[in-house]
Amino acid sequence: MLGKSLLLAALAAISAVNAQNEYLGFNYGAAKANGQVKVYDDFLEEFELAQKLAGTSGKFSSARLYTMIQGPSKDDPIEAIEAAIKTKTTLLLGIWCSVPTEHVTNEINALLKAINKYGKDFTDLVVGLSVGSEDLYRNSIMGIENKSGIGAEPDQLLTYINMVKKAIANTPLKSTPIGHVDTWTVWVNGSNNAVTEALDWVGFDAYPYFQSTMDNSIEVAPQLFWDAFENTQKATGKEVWITETGWPVAGKDMNLAKANTKDAQTYWNTIGCALFGNHKTWWYMLRDADPTPPETEFGVVGADLKPYYDLSCKNAKPVPSPVASTSAAPSSTSAPSRTNAPSTRAPGTTFEVESSTRGSSGSSPTGTAESAAKTTDGAPSSGFAVKATMGFVAAQVIAAAFFLL
Ligand SMILES: *[C@@H]1O[C@H](CO)[C@@H](O)[C@H](O)[C@H]1NC(C)=O
Ligand SMILES: *[C@@H]1O[C@H](CO)[C@@H](O)[C@H](O)[C@H]1NC(C)=O
Repeated sequence: MLGKSLLLAALAAISAVNAQNEYLGFNYGAAKANGQVKVYDDFLEEFELAQKLAGTSGKFSSARLYTMIQGPSKDDPIEAIEAAIKTKTTLLLGIWCSVPTEHVTNEINALLKAINKYGKDFTDLVVGLSVGSEDLYRNSIMGIENKSGIGAEPDQLLTYINMVKKAIANTPLKSTPIGHVDTWTVWVNGSNNAVTEALDWVGFDAYPYFQSTMDNSIEVAPQLFWDAFENTQKATGKEVWITETGWPVAGKDMNLAKANTKDAQTYWNTIGCALFGNHKTWWYMLRDADPTPPETEFGVVGADLKPYYDLSCKNAKPVPSPVASTSAAPSSTSAPSRTNAPSTRAPGTTFEVESSTRGSSGSSPTGTAESAAKTTDGAPSSGFAVKATMGFVAAQVIAAAFFLL
């Protein structure tokens, strides 16, 4: 059994992790649900709202963006940057890549303009940069079958990654960790290895709600999430950032998954409260009912800007990774979790993907990236039960320490 002193040591280690202040926030599209382009005031309203969410002590203070460009300009910096400076919101920048090279050049120019215009006020807030979002998913067999929109080939993406690295090499952002965000199925597909190798971190999008070819009820959602996470970590050997996950408050049934406030609360409490403060996390999403709710609504607040459910984690029973004892500590090295049990799964052979019903277009950087991965391999590792019990205690402490400080 775990001795008391060992437990205390483990908890101290966890507190140290918390002290590093893992980034936590939401995804922010460049346009509203009705297609209207967001401007400074819109971003300001959302960033302030995120930091004022009841019960969260202002911890949702990071923003993931999908593009650097302020529409409808050619290459002016997105006004979210100015709102981030005003609210001290850290930024996971995004460059939209499912486009011809000239457009990626515009994205890079917008980034360089922002560095010149805002200087250190801006660059100090940047925690990472993602070259692309779900481009490889949209370009995969399943993405194409599901009409998910225009994607990009791995070669193309690699070219763009190198363009970005070169462009920032002599700027204050030269040591910004470079990543790419995609569905987890992309990360376990060996054909994308050249992209993975070029990155400092991989951005992981996972939605058990959409994994509709298997039991994906809310009760098994944590297991689906952590299976996908562990498979991604093993396949890539890179630090995994949680760039999108969430559960809808409204929408169609997806096999056994129901979209409602009760299950969205449960997903927040089991997965969200296990992640917050422990893994870099950008939740999907703060608000999509803007001005009115989309068919599948993921927002934690509605059109009235009030939370749909309790965000405090106070009564939560978080379900951490079954290998939480090793993977809970975020690693700054490039090969975390290599000490975990080796995977016996053959990556890239047993999964399917289907398009989500989020948003209306995956071909524009509106933040309604539309895809979700699902696996047909839902078998938990044999150590799941034991490790989950140990990790469970720790995760509750994390949740409490994190929000009640
Ligand atoms: C694996 O990745 C390649 C390159 O991105 C893609 O063309 C292919 O469709 C993917 N395979 C599957 C099964 O998704
Ligand atoms: C594409 O999506 C449909 C539902 O929208 C789903 O039935 C089908 O399995 C998906 N295709 C693949 C290859 O995942």
